[in-house]
Amino acid sequence: MATRGHWGSNAGFILAAVGGAVGLGNLWGFAYSASQGGGAAFVVLYLLFVFFIGLPVLTAELVIGRHTGKSPVEAMLAVGGRRWKWLGFVFVIAGFGILSFYSVIMGWTGRLLVEFLRGTVPIDTAAHFGAISEGPGAIVAHLIGMLITVFVIIGGVQKGIERVSVVLMPVLFLLIAALAVWAATLSGAGPGYAFYLRPDLSQVFHTKTITGAAGQAFFSLSLGMGAMITYASYLSGRGNLAAQAGIIALSDTVVAFVGGLVTFPIIYHFGLQAEVSDSAIGALFIAVPRGFLSLGGGGQVVGVVFFLALYIAALTSGISLLEVVASALIDSLGWTRERAGWVAGGAIALGGIPGALSSDWVGFLFQLFGQVFLVFGGVMLALLVGYVWTAQARAELLKGFPSPALAEGWIWLLRTFVPVMLAITLFFAVLALGPVVSALLS
Ligand code: TRP
Repeated sequence: MATRGHWGSNAGFILAAVGGAVGLGNLWGFAYSASQGGGAAFVVLYLLFVFFIGLPVLTAELVIGRHTGKSPVEAMLAVGGRRWKWLGFVFVIAGFGILSFYSVIMGWTGRLLVEFLRGTVPIDTAAHFGAISEGPGAIVAHLIGMLITVFVIIGGVQKGIERVSVVLMPVLFLLIAALAVWAATLSGAGPGYAFYLRPDLSQVFHTKTITGAAGQAFFSLSLGMGAMITYASYLSGRGNLAAQAGIIALSDTVVAFVGGLVTFPIIYHFGLQAEVSDSAIGALFIAVPRGFLSLGGGGQVVGVVFFLALYIAALTSGISLLEVVASALIDSLGWTRERAGWVAGGAIALGGIPGALSSDWVGFLFQLFGQVFLVFGGVMLALLVGYVWTAQARAELLKGFPSPALAEGWIWLLRTFVPVMLAITLFFAVLALGPVVSALLS
């Protein structure tokens, strides 16, 4: 078997992990949830969950990854023994399921990017989105996204994933910052910020808002399916994993927050409040493009920047998803990276075709894999590290972490607050499958 990949530098690892975390979930899912959950009140709740649930689980994934140096299935076996190996398979299935719809959305994004570049987006963006989101065009756009993703991961950890992340992540940050500055000049900026930053407490004490914030934090941080285990498995040495988890979580959260500073002014400037509350996808691909078109040539430039940023965010996340599946094939079956990349990518490309034919199917896959599977995986990881593999996890963390007392706090959270909150979130995520299934059947 070939020697395992590894990162060229700590900064490379962190940029790749931030690239995996920052995705469509940040640039749209966060603002959408905030708009439904009482603005700043949701944001505060979200921050609490990132800190008290996301950060502990992220640290647990990094600890498992670096300690074992293995892809998720083998890592679960190494850490929990034969009784835990199945969890690794659950992770791989989740990666497969998430990428198979994620890549379809990435395809829509790429399509709008190209059309804004060419100036061919028609005024009736709703009819247009209906035409491009389902059918042959959507399949082609999805396949192109998968192809790019496969090319990156077969390039290798250092020469593929790291190199792409080191170039694209700074570009992404610049694009988002530019968009936030532009959004500040819109006349809707004032009311947009006011809604975003003024807490409406009446919305926050709903179980749906609370569990929604937890689910959103989990998806946004790419937790619960071994993506972070996989990336950390290419680390060596004694760095401070809790600090690295902190940088990753902070970056992801800052991008989500700044994403809101882009989105809310747009929503209020173009009067899209009603449309946004209808559906997250509709708002992103119908309402926002219509807003840009109303600005003429300048709007075309903004459209290009906006959809380019989304595409970069989606691509680097897709890479982390495919890497989970491919690394499992490499480590468990001894395949070469080329073979694993093409087979995993090819299978997911096929598995994504139903999503490119039905956006209700995309919604269903998101709820099933992007919420239920991830939150379930999070419960299991918390229990595994909190109760089963605790001593080794503590020792691995303490290699680079200065405070034994804080390490105990981390373990305490993994034993109590984290699994309890995630179990409640899981319950509501399963309930929410009902409406998406009926949308699918109607
Ligand atoms: N975090 C990404 C987003 O916010 C989605 C994602 C990428 C993901 N890789 C993941 C989610 C792994 C869960 C697990 O869009």
